[in-house]
Amino acid sequence: MSKSMIQIAGLTKFYEQGEVAIPALNGIDLIIEKGQFIVILGPSGSGKTTLLNLVGGIDYKTEGSIIVNNQEITCLREKELTEYRKREIGFIFQFYNLIPTLTASENVEIAARLKFSQNARNKALAMLAEVGLAEKAHKFPSQLSGGEQQRVAIARALVKEPDLILADEPTGNLDSVTSDKILSVMVKACKERSTTFLIVTHNRSISKLADKIIYLKDGKIFGTSDSE
Ligand SMILES: Nc1ncnc2c1ncn2[C@@H]1O[C@H](COP(=O)(O)OP(=O)(O)OP(=O)(O)O)[C@@H](O)[C@H]1O
Ligand SMILES: [Mg+2]
Repeated sequence: MSKSMIQIAGLTKFYEQGEVAIPALNGIDLIIEKGQFIVILGPSGSGKTTLLNLVGGIDYKTEGSIIVNNQEITCLREKELTEYRKREIGFIFQFYNLIPTLTASENVEIAARLKFSQNARNKALAMLAEVGLAEKAHKFPSQLSGGEQQRVAIARALVKEPDLILADEPTGNLDSVTSDKILSVMVKACKERSTTFLIVTHNRSISKLADKIIYLKDGKIFGTSDSE
């Protein structure tokens, strides 16, 4: 058994579009240890989102292997993959993806229920308090600012206490005060629970804290550094 959280070898992804195969990832090899805070950088179209989607089991590889928590996820059947996504991974997208007809606390509670059969509501409220939204728990997404919605999305990802958080530009359009708040919640989870983070971001205050920065270009890793 290996301690590494993620082991990726020879990972290649082509998107098939009719007769054409569009290359997105081209032979990625990568090892990430448990509790590491990893930032992925690279120009538009370099394969950052594709990499997160493959590790998160929301898209399929063309070639190669992805082992997460000692489990080869590219071999999982649909049902096992759903369980993997529900229980082990927290996703944070740039555009929040909150359910508009549910309140902030209900959005978080639904995620808590995917993993915990008891106390889901209390866990949801506690996590909302942690991201500074205790007072807004009963509001609908449309009644919240962009930064508040993003904090709900982060609470939703963290409430499951996942081993791995995958975040795609989590502070994309936020002001620096809000993104610093979000950042401190993520760093706390990383330090206190050894949650592993794989974050696509151009935010300098995030990359400064990274254990490792991975630079992608044309679907390949062309460099790594320990921090900015
Ligand atoms: N669903 C898809 N169908 C076809 N091609 C796709 C699809 N998704 C991504 N691609 C292509 O795969 C390549 C990598 O895309 P990806 O979205 O991973 O890049 P990215 O690094 O996340 O870019 P950005 O910074 O703009 O978000 C690009 O050439 C893109 O056009
Ligand atoms: Mg992207």
